[in-house]
Amino acid sequence: MKALICREYGLPLTLQVEEVATPTIEPDEVLVKVLYCGVNFPDTLIIQNKYQFKAPLPFTPGSEITGIVTAVGKEVIHVKPGDRVAGICRWGGFAEFAAIKSTHVFVLSANIDLKLAAATLYNYATSYHALKDRAQLKPGEKLLVLGAAGGVGLAALELGKLMGATVIAAASTDEKLNLCNQKGADSLINYATHNLRELVKEITNGAGVNVVFDPAGGALAENALRSMAWRGRYLVVGFASGTIPAFPANVPLLKGASVIGVFWSGFAAKEPMQNATNIKQLIAWLAEGKIKQEIYKTYSLPEAPQALQALMDRKVLGKAIVQVT
Ligand SMILES: NC(=O)c1ccc[n+]([C@@H]2O[C@H](COP(=O)([O-])OP(=O)(O)OC[C@H]3O[C@@H](n4cnc5c(N)ncnc54)[C@H](OP(=O)(O)O)[C@@H]3O)[C@@H](O)[C@H]2O)c1
Repeated sequence: MKALICREYGLPLTLQVEEVATPTIEPDEVLVKVLYCGVNFPDTLIIQNKYQFKAPLPFTPGSEITGIVTAVGKEVIHVKPGDRVAGICRWGGFAEFAAIKSTHVFVLSANIDLKLAAATLYNYATSYHALKDRAQLKPGEKLLVLGAAGGVGLAALELGKLMGATVIAAASTDEKLNLCNQKGADSLINYATHNLRELVKEITNGAGVNVVFDPAGGALAENALRSMAWRGRYLVVGFASGTIPAFPANVPLLKGASVIGVFWSGFAAKEPMQNATNIKQLIAWLAEGKIKQEIYKTYSLPEAPQALQALMDRKVLGKAIVQVT
């Protein structure tokens, strides 16, 4: 089969498509003929050996696929050959076939578009876990989403609206904010040209926001922390800026606020039943058209390095997708 191969840790353009053996499956695994693979920020870190999980060389990156099941291990009962599925894996997705743990394979009904589904689960499962389980976001609360036109950011915006919150979308360009506006954001902030804290104060009549969703980290984080209301919850989701922020502890003290970590794959491993309930809800919303990730561009398998590079270059609005076969 054809697969994108990482032979040395490094930047996306060092990856190449090669002919390799089709993976074999363990008793608890499912073999999927991959049609689409979503492009996620952690993929860009794994190929550089900068992520929590270390992939042994050589390996195939790609962590979120949709396709058709071709074989199942003998312990697998909820999936059968021929099923249309979505699957989440640490790596292995940018290939014609992927072997995935059955607990991370989800059957999709015939009315769900496989390309859209490949753009959905990773981002929405992360953002839903963040807003529902970690922040316990309530209807009527004010949610500030940073990096709001990115993969998890746009998911947080859409889910925040679905959960009844008022959403302030913040991003670095007017083009990105235009997309956030189309996705239903109540207010928009361009943090490249305006002062985030001053605008949040103005939009919320001085009250501040109840929840901050932060996938970027970096210089904006302290301003966002200081923009929270009494009993605010600050969700630490990621560090796309490349800088892990350090917070002055007096700010959460004075606001009776919390700084809350979000680690979706840890949650999926440690609390599989709760994660399965969340995924079931997301798949239902996907089928009903209530959630719809923005697809930025569809790349071919040989173009997958360009897709990863575009994500690193901050160019992607919503989600880039690779059509594998
Ligand atoms: N905690 C978890 O369980 C979990 C799960 C999935 C992903 N993540 C993390 O969440 C973060 C976002 O992932 P994603 O897939 O949504 O990525 P993405 O689509 O690239 O979005 C990241 C956003 O961050 C902003 N950003 C600020 N500085 C940036 C920089 N130097 N380079 C790139 N983007 C920058 C960009 O928005 P502006 O240009 O508007 O600033 C961009 O849209 C990553 O750090 C990822 O590792 C965490």
